[in-house]
Amino acid sequence: MDPRLRDLVRESEVSASRLIYPLFVAPGRGVRQGVPSMPGQSVYSVDTLVEEVRAAEADGVRGVILFGIPESKDERATGAYAEDGIVQRALRALRDKAPGVLRVTDVCLCEYTSHGHCGVIEGEKVANDPTLELLARTAVSHARAGADMVAPSDMMDGRVGAIRRALDAAGLPDLPILSYAAKYASAFYGPFRDAARSTPAFGDRRSHQMDAANRAEAMREIALDLEEGADVVMVKPALPYLDVIHEARQRFQAPIAAYQVSGEYALIAAAAERGWVDRRAIVLESLGAIRRAGASIILTYFAREAARWLGERRSDR
Ligand code: PBG
Repeated sequence: MDPRLRDLVRESEVSASRLIYPLFVAPGRGVRQGVPSMPGQSVYSVDTLVEEVRAAEADGVRGVILFGIPESKDERATGAYAEDGIVQRALRALRDKAPGVLRVTDVCLCEYTSHGHCGVIEGEKVANDPTLELLARTAVSHARAGADMVAPSDMMDGRVGAIRRALDAAGLPDLPILSYAAKYASAFYGPFRDAARSTPAFGDRRSHQMDAANRAEAMREIALDLEEGADVVMVKPALPYLDVIHEARQRFQAPIAAYQVSGEYALIAAAAERGWVDRRAIVLESLGAIRRAGASIILTYFAREAARWLGERRSDR
C-alpha cells in the first residue's frame, strides 16, 4: 500500500509525547551503574541523572518518573519523605537544570524500608493505615521539591484519597495523581527489584497486588481510585495485560497509563542482544500495541531510544 495512504488511515499512533522514561537515582557523584538484568539501563547519581535527562530530552523525551535508592533504609522508610531525600534532591536538580522535562515520582515505601515491604510492618503484615500517613507525607515532600505529578504505586487501601487530602491541605490542590490502580502481582518486576534492591526480605506482595487471573477486580480498583481523586490510572505490567487496558479504556473517561515494566524490557533486550529479534521493530510494535489497546501514556525503559526512532521516522519521509 502507498505509505501516504497507510498513514492517512492509521487508527492509532505512538509519539514521543506519550512516553515517560523511568529512571533510578542513588547517592554519590559520577555514578552510572549498569543494571545487569536490564542491559542499557543504569542507576544514576543526581549529577549523571541530570545529564541523562538532558540527553533524553534532546532525543525527544518529555517526561520522566523517578525511583529513589536511598543511602540507608529503616523500618519507617524515613528516606522516602526526608527533606534531603534522594528523590527530593534529584527533583530540585532537575527543576533547576532540565526544567523542560515533566517530573513524575513513584510514591512507595518499598525502596526505603529495611524489610523491603511497601509500608509499616506490624507482626508479619503491612499495616494499612499507618502506611497511608507516610505515603501522604512522601507525596507532599516530592511535590514541594518539584514533582509535577505523583504516582502512588503501593496499592494500600485508601492511599489515593489520603494523598489527595494531604496535597490539598498543603496548598497543592492542582497537583495531579497518577495512580498505579491495576497493579498485578507479577514476575515481570524481577529486574526492577534488582535495580532498586527492593525484594521483600520475607513474604511477597500478594496481599496488596492483584492476582494475574482477574480482570473485573482491576475495573473495581480503577473505579475506586478515580472516586478517591486519581487523575490518571495505570495498568501494570502492559503487554501481558492489554485486555485490561482495553477494558479500562472502554469503561472510564480518565486517561489510562500503561507501564511496560522491567521484565518486559529485559525479555526484549535479551533476545535483541542475541540477534533473535529486531530491537527497533519490536519496541515500536509493542508500544503501538499498547496504544492500540487504549493507553494514552506509556511508561517504558525504551522511551529514550523510541523517542529518537520516532523522530527519525518523521524526518525520513
Ligand atoms: C514499587 C514499584 C515497583 C515497580 C514500580 N514501582 C516494584 C514492585 O511493585 O515490586 C516495578 C516496575 C518495573 O518492574 O519496571 N515502588
